[in-house]
Amino acid sequence: MRILIYRKANFDDIESIFALITGYANDGMMLARSRNALYESIRDMIVAIDDDGNLAGVGALHMIWDSLAEVRSMAVAPHMTRHGIGQTIVKKLIEDGRTFGVKKFFTLTYKPKFFEKLGFITVPKENLSQKVWKECIDCPKFPNCDEIAMVLPDETINEEFFENVAKKLEFK
Ligand SMILES: CC(C)(COP(=O)(O)OP(=O)(O)OC[C@H]1O[C@@H](n2cnc3c(N)ncnc32)[C@H](O)[C@@H]1OP(=O)(O)O)[C@@H](O)C(=O)NCCC(=O)NCCS
Repeated sequence: MRILIYRKANFDDIESIFALITGYANDGMMLARSRNALYESIRDMIVAIDDDGNLAGVGALHMIWDSLAEVRSMAVAPHMTRHGIGQTIVKKLIEDGRTFGVKKFFTLTYKPKFFEKLGFITVPKENLSQKVWKECIDCPKFPNCDEIAMVLPDETINEEFFENVAKKLEFK
């Protein structure tokens, strides 16, 4: 397994992130993101970079409302899945969100098992704040969302949750 660094995304990452997400989106595994959407949300994203400087994974935390944020755009390079990269990115996103005072983390996903492993639980979509749906009108699937709504219960975010996660993000 290669050594990875986890850091905030920057402009040089956008083309690789776009290619990774588009590949999975074309297979129907996740929602597509335009380059424009990626540039606009660059500050949301954390990337994992391998020791050749290649993108190994990406994930984003998008602020929605008071203390509320969405984990989105999770993607790990196909040859690097199931090595804990996705899990580490989510934990770093949560760690980062907490520095802003986020208390409620949720996701809309096609991969509930991945999020369950992290402690997320499935909830009825109606349980999510109406604020969540503001951006959904731009989604090609709107209004027939087939993603699963999941939230991370407060009590899950404890010391054990952050075990093995470096205290601070590494910045390039
Ligand atoms: C989903 C994804 C981000 C997970 O990243 P990853 O680095 O492979 O995940 P991890 O190695 O951190 O997985 C942690 C645990 O989550 C669970 N998990 C991960 N991927 C899973 C899958 N496809 N099916 C079932 N469980 C899964 C497993 O319990 C895993 O632990 P294990 O490998 O010890 O059994 C990655 O597989 C991916 O990019 N998939 C394609 C794009 C996608 O589906 N994105 C999410 C859209 S909602």
